[in-house]
Amino acid sequence: MKKILVTGGCGYIGSHTIVDLLQNGYDVISVDNNSRSTPSILEGVERITGKKVKNYCIDLCNIADTRNLFKENRDIIGVIHFAAYKSVGESVGNPLMYFNNNIGSLLNILTCCSEFNVDTFVFSSSCTVYGNPEQSPVTEETPIKMAESPYGNTKQMSEEIIQQIVKGNNLQAILLRYFNPVGAHPSNEIGEVPIGKPANLVPAITQTAIGKLSQMQVYGNDYPTRDGSCIRDYIHVSDIAHAHTLALNYLIDKRNKTQCDIFNLGTGNGYTVLEVIKTFEKISKQPLNYIVSGRRTGDVIAIYANNEKSQRLLGWKPQYSLEDMMQTAWNWELKLKEGKN
Ligand code: WQD
Repeated sequence: MKKILVTGGCGYIGSHTIVDLLQNGYDVISVDNNSRSTPSILEGVERITGKKVKNYCIDLCNIADTRNLFKENRDIIGVIHFAAYKSVGESVGNPLMYFNNNIGSLLNILTCCSEFNVDTFVFSSSCTVYGNPEQSPVTEETPIKMAESPYGNTKQMSEEIIQQIVKGNNLQAILLRYFNPVGAHPSNEIGEVPIGKPANLVPAITQTAIGKLSQMQVYGNDYPTRDGSCIRDYIHVSDIAHAHTLALNYLIDKRNKTQCDIFNLGTGNGYTVLEVIKTFEKISKQPLNYIVSGRRTGDVIAIYANNEKSQRLLGWKPQYSLEDMMQTAWNWELKLKEGKN
């Protein structure tokens, strides 16, 4: 069996990716210090797949512990690296914590890949590297812009580090630039478990709808868009997950033409904040309690993907509609309320 190490495997996208990997014939181990996640999510993975996944609860910023993990698992053939802090807002207040954690852990993983001859590497990147693009859809060749936050900076720096590292050895890497991952696994056994008040739109919507939040704010309706609210490319987390399996297959089958390839993971459709809310109201059959407030600093006006390269080279085709995204997110919020997650 092809054994893959998934870092951040107890996280939102990590856990969904583990499900897809297991369902596509890979063997998986997870490493996650559970500082921002809970190992119980792997019980949900087991309920879906019937397979137990071992999680190594260590800090990837500790090189000795990271090295020991590789020593214990010399049959690892590839790494998917999710583990990182990912809150834009938090990063503004704690830049050093973000640079130490996100870059430190990446460097340790890359060091161990080199020492243990693991040459297949998939990295969790983000459309945030494009900043505020002149126009959308953005392709992988759209120029990178100065990040709007230390979080975005760590994604840009990580991409540059990986692009440099591959030059020196036989590492084959793929950078996956996610647009806005939302929703939950259709089985409703796993989903996003935000810590504290959610910063992202869809958990803010579902928590308001379920009553955890009394009201949500739409951060501005005076943008130069069709209804004044910002435009994003929302993509179902299970579509994102499957792209990781396809990216591994692409590298393992040696179909890659360069040592470090970049792919956009978005549907190619942009929706405004108000359109997402309307879609949610339609599927939940209840009005959402929101007000329009001022703009949020650092928000990009509009961004959505050109995903032609991912479709052509990875054979990736997003399956879930915006309604599916809202429905699965709502189903998951309802389950969280029952306390059965
Ligand atoms: C989307 C839109 C908000 C909350 C961030 C990261 C990105 C990725 C996804 C990790 C914006 C509006 C939001 C609310 C609102 N994360 N909004 N009220 O900022 O596009 O991307 O998360 O990879 O890297 O930058 O996502 O969901 O926070 O915001 O009006 O309560 O929803 O203003 O227009 P964002 P988001």
